[in-house]
Amino acid sequence: MASATEIEIVHVNAPLGHEVRGVDLSRPLAARTVEAVERIFDMYGVITLRGQTITPEQHIAFSRHFGALERYPIDRFLLPGHPEIFVVSNIVEDGRAIGMADAGRVWHSDMHFTATPSRCSLLYAREVPMRDGRALGATLFASTAAAYDALPRDIKATVDGRRALNSYSRYVERRSAKVGGGKSGQSERTKQADQHPDVWHPLVRTHPRTGRKCLYISDEVTCAVEGMGETEGEQLLKELLAHITRPEFVYTHEWRVGDLLIWDNCSAVHNAIGDYGPDERRLMHRTTVAGGPTF
Ligand code: OGA
Ligand code: MN
Repeated sequence: MASATEIEIVHVNAPLGHEVRGVDLSRPLAARTVEAVERIFDMYGVITLRGQTITPEQHIAFSRHFGALERYPIDRFLLPGHPEIFVVSNIVEDGRAIGMADAGRVWHSDMHFTATPSRCSLLYAREVPMRDGRALGATLFASTAAAYDALPRDIKATVDGRRALNSYSRYVERRSAKVGGGKSGQSERTKQADQHPDVWHPLVRTHPRTGRKCLYISDEVTCAVEGMGETEGEQLLKELLAHITRPEFVYTHEWRVGDLLIWDNCSAVHNAIGDYGPDERRLMHRTTVAGGPTF
């Protein structure tokens, strides 16, 4: 068993790119190892464990250390026999898409549009598209905590204590305007919209475990600010999102097969880059850990 003392943290890129080495998820983990990984995760918000060879069962078992797992709401993208795993993939087998091909193609955090958004997600890379020796389909991560800390005092005063409205139906509308109604998960998203009423969340969330303040905005989902007119609110959200995604807060994760990456859905937002074609296979398995009410 790996002991906590063998764990090494390698800082790849500020503020979110941290690799955790010395943990083999295919072997039984000591409780103190799991606790150490969770502590490192809380501290950094995005961590990668490279070179993992794990089964769906091992992926699920490790994920459960972070809390109860949530099932992704679209059944046909769940891994057969393992509904805890949501398949993100462009692979078509026997005429059937085995996963969602266009997941997360906008700055967002997972399940932001629900009253109790997910705590974290664990994405495991099984197949990564390559072209000319370069990996495609990177995922960008931006630190909403570092972005909040760096806000000028007057903007902090404007956003602190204010709520914002988050709308899944609005997201679906915006997506279909951009990609067309028939694309990949779009028709399922339209069906899902009825089941997700709009929700208010604080524009500045307090991280439930670290107490850090985080800007809580997902593009196309967060659509109005309490106490502000439509235009003023939209303008503020646009400026805040541009601030969050400034290069100094963004880590680009270039995937390698065997990466297990964990992201926090409060202290980070992420965005998937769709720079590969339908025949360049990408296969990712995601588990999702439930979260609580926001504050
Ligand atoms: C997700 C997601 C990003 C990616 O699964 O929630 O946003 O790069 N995926 O696949
Ligand atoms: Mn996502």
